[in-house]
Amino acid sequence: MIYCLISLLTNEIINLETIFNLKMNKVEIDKIYNKNCIDGMKLISKNKIDLVITDPPFAINFKAKKANYNRTASRVLSGYNEIKPENYYDFTFSWMSEVFRILKDSGSMYVFSGWNNLKDILRALDDVGFVTINHIIWKYQFGVVTKKKFVTSHYHCLYVCKDDKKRKFFPFSRFKQGDKSPDGRSLHYRDKEDVWDIKREYWSGDEKTPTKLPSEIIKKLLEYSSEKKDIVFDPFLGSGQTAVVSKSLNRRYLGFEIVPDYYKFAKKRLDKDLYRIKKSK
Ligand SMILES: C[S@@+](CC[C@H](N)C(=O)[O-])C[C@H]1O[C@@H](n2cnc3c(N)ncnc32)[C@H](O)[C@@H]1O
Repeated sequence: MIYCLISLLTNEIINLETIFNLKMNKVEIDKIYNKNCIDGMKLISKNKIDLVITDPPFAINFKAKKANYNRTASRVLSGYNEIKPENYYDFTFSWMSEVFRILKDSGSMYVFSGWNNLKDILRALDDVGFVTINHIIWKYQFGVVTKKKFVTSHYHCLYVCKDDKKRKFFPFSRFKQGDKSPDGRSLHYRDKEDVWDIKREYWSGDEKTPTKLPSEIIKKLLEYSSEKKDIVFDPFLGSGQTAVVSKSLNRRYLGFEIVPDYYKFAKKRLDKDLYRIKKSK
């Protein structure tokens, strides 16, 4: 009887503590918000986030018009919020400063970037105070065909942290030390090389936003740099890939998206636990 009472009380205290911890001012975790991320992050107290995975706007005058996507025009949601190239460094410095504040000391961030504005991303990371751990290259298939120059078919992914001694990294979360491929090569070594050849996902017949990260990349980053129940944050959600994959791997999620249609699409995917959504006719 006494044992039951003690365990009931302890559980109650744990529950209260959980609710208290989950409520970060006006922003709650396991939710996403249709908000400018710089304003949104100001509502989050410092040292709350375990991992950030993000793919900010490109600043290359990218226009997400349905007409740009000939084959599947009617299924691509339009409205991508772009940043002017001349404002890109200031914009980048602002959102990165907020990320730095809300990240735990043990936390880390992966930022994707094309090569065009990479210099602003690298400069802002240094100026804000992040420590750079790796510079990963993601090689994808089907770059835009060009006549008089080489075809761009890679993205950069900067792996950074606040404190190199405290950051989490789980080197054998995907392959054990002795795991070998049929040709005798070490699988964990190969998986940890910093050039990743990962295919883009083509969602023919389904609703989509113009740019999205493949789930395979997000899964890989989550497995190396987070644990179950960790809070994973994406300030630029787009289709919601970071949140959707985090939820499927039992991580908690949080994020912002400024374009209402993209936010609604991401929310629908999360609420219905659907990875892909058929476009209704
Ligand atoms: C490159 S996309 C992200 C794609 C995403 N990683 C995915 O897999 O779907 C960048 C997104 O940031 C959004 N965005 C731009 N400025 C924003 C801001 N200040 N706050 C929140 N979202 C913003 C854009 O509308 C766009 O959807």
